[in-house]
Formats: sequence, structure tokens, C-alpha cells
Amino acid sequence: MNTYKIAVLPGDGTGGEVVREGLKVLDVISKTHGFKLDCQMFDLGGERYLRTGEVLPDSVLKELRSYRAIYLGAVGHPDVKPGILEKGLLLKLRFSLEQYINLRPVRLYPGVDCPLKNKKPEDIDFVVVRENNEGLYVGEGEFIKKGTPDEVAIQISRNTYHGVERCLRYAFEYTRKRNRDKKLTLCGKTNVLTYAFDLWERVFHKLGAEEYPDIQRDYAHVDATCMWMIKNPEWFDVIVTDNMFGDIITDLGAMIQGGMGIAAGGNINPKGVSMFEPIGGSAPKYTGKNVINPLAAIMAGSMLLEHLGEEQAAKDIEDSVMWVTAKKLKSLAAGKMGYSTTEVGDLVVQGLDNKVRG
Ligand code: IPM
Ligand code: MN
Repeated sequence: MNTYKIAVLPGDGTGGEVVREGLKVLDVISKTHGFKLDCQMFDLGGERYLRTGEVLPDSVLKELRSYRAIYLGAVGHPDVKPGILEKGLLLKLRFSLEQYINLRPVRLYPGVDCPLKNKKPEDIDFVVVRENNEGLYVGEGEFIKKGTPDEVAIQISRNTYHGVERCLRYAFEYTRKRNRDKKLTLCGKTNVLTYAFDLWERVFHKLGAEEYPDIQRDYAHVDATCMWMIKNPEWFDVIVTDNMFGDIITDLGAMIQGGMGIAAGGNINPKGVSMFEPIGGSAPKYTGKNVINPLAAIMAGSMLLEHLGEEQAAKDIEDSVMWVTAKKLKSLAAGKMGYSTTEVGDLVVQGLDNKVRG
């Protein structure tokens, strides 16, 4: 029997509540599909930081490298200054483990209320491949004359050929494998960011022409991408973009797919340790109330299984989630689902059985 070692990081706020439901589903699905998840819990996040001053000790990072994948809840604590946990934990994991892809599917499930008028599930079904290790996120820059009226704050966007190429290659491969419209849209800003996106554009067309002639290449500026995502989301199949633009457009993506309650993502190192997470935050105001929507975390679990090669199990979870959105939940919003967090997890477990889904 295949056994996979999984590191579980519930993190802060509602992270623990949603991860608990995800693990509930993963536990059942692993039994019915004949594999084992050997899960180890890690206490990282705001509480540990406030208690010990540690965010991500080197020894823990080293240990995490020995796992097949990481399952993360949420990062962010109201009593910790913004930036400490985000940079010290989430971004440090993404960078240290070289998770250079942030994969974020945007899919409207049946029964989910879409804020876009007249858009149906078949219209909203694309994937954003966000570069996850470079760009504005490298934290390079400086202040000059800080605190004076002459202050200058510089924030550098670093784009390396190597980093851009591996991201684009992943996106082309993903588009081919997805096999929908076989269309890859580069989202950039070539009219203003004439260094960064010049590189992106050159590598995009070189790689596409030489190695992916079967993939249609398309380009959109980031502002236009936002417009099309609202106006004609059906135009997109796969979008590839840099770290900052990817961060922004995937929040927009989450909204058109029904909200943070459903949006999941993977931080992927194709040859290393990847990490899967619901893309929303720790939602402190809902902590401990059993009202938060666990579907995003459950879908992060599905993505984790797909990554491990347990594709049927991953698909079964998604099918069950679609049954829950179509037939059970009143809304995806916290406190308005018509069910508690735990009950939604139970529903997904029930839906894993074809006979229940009918
Ligand atoms: C995300 C988050 C993070 C990011 C924050 C918490 C650092 O917004 O995963 O999209 O900006 O990448
Ligand atoms: Mn974000």
C-alpha cells in the first residue's frame, strides 16, 4: 500500500477548523482508495510565535523537507504585526522549498452564487499559474532618506531567465495536460514594465514556438485581464503571470468562483516538497465558531492528492464537493451555509459515496 508522509500545519485562526474537516475527508478517501496518509501535525503560526518568539525554526524547516507534501490551514494572527508570519512562515516556506509555482484553479461549481450576471459553471473554468519565488516578493529594495520629505522607497521586482522559464514551461505543460482549449494567456504589463515583461514575453514566445506549437499563445495586460475576467471569463483556459499580478488576479478569481470559501491553491515544486492551502486568510473573527466554510481546505486536500498521483481520489473529492454546493449549501459564506463547518465536512464525506449522490 502506498504511504505518503504529510506534514500538517493548521496555522492560525480558523486554519485548524478547516484543516480538521480536510483531514476527515482525506482519511475516508484514503481508506476507500487503498493508500495511507501518515500525517504529522506541526505547531507553527501566531500562537507559537507569541509563546516562544519562533516563526519557522531551521530545525523544523529541515524536518519538513523529509515530507511528501505539506497541508496548510491559514497564516495570520491579530496580535502579531502584519508581515511577520506572512514573510517568516508562508513566504519562507514557498521560497526555501522552491515552490516556484502557485497553482490556482478558478472554477464555478454548480449551485454556487456567482456575482457575474448570466455566467454559468461552463463559463468560469480556468487556472492561474502564478510565479511564486520571484518578482516583487523577493523583498529587495531600500529606503533613501527615510522619514524625511525627500524619502524614496525602492522595491525591486526580480525576474531571472531561469525563474521565468521554469514557470512558463510548467504553464505550457499544464495547458497541454489540461487539454481544454489548449490556450495559454500571458498576463503582464509590457507597455509599462518594459524590463520585466520584456523578458517574460520573449521567453514565452521562444518556448512556445520551439516546444509547444500545439498551444495557442495569447497575451493580455494585467488591467485588461481583470476586465476580461469579469466580462468574458470563458475566454481563459490557463493564465500565466508573475508573483504580484498573480496574487491580485487570483483574489479576483476567487470572487468570481464564489468566494474565499471555495478557493484552493497549490505551492508547487515539481521535484520537491509542495504545499497545498485554502487561499483565504485565517479569518480571526470566525475562529472557534464552527461557521467557516471548509470547502477550500477540502479542495486543497484534493489538489494534494492529485499531486501525489492519487488522481481518482482527488476527483472523487471534487465530485462530492460539487454535489454539496449543488444540492446542500445555501451559500458559501461563513455563517450562511445552512450548516456548520463540521457538518459541511460530514456532507462531503457522505457525498464520496456514489449511492448517496444518486
Ligand atoms: C496569498 C496571500 C499571500 C501572498 C500573503 C499572505 C503573503 O495573499 O497566498 O495570496 O501575498 O502571496
Ligand atoms: Mn493573495
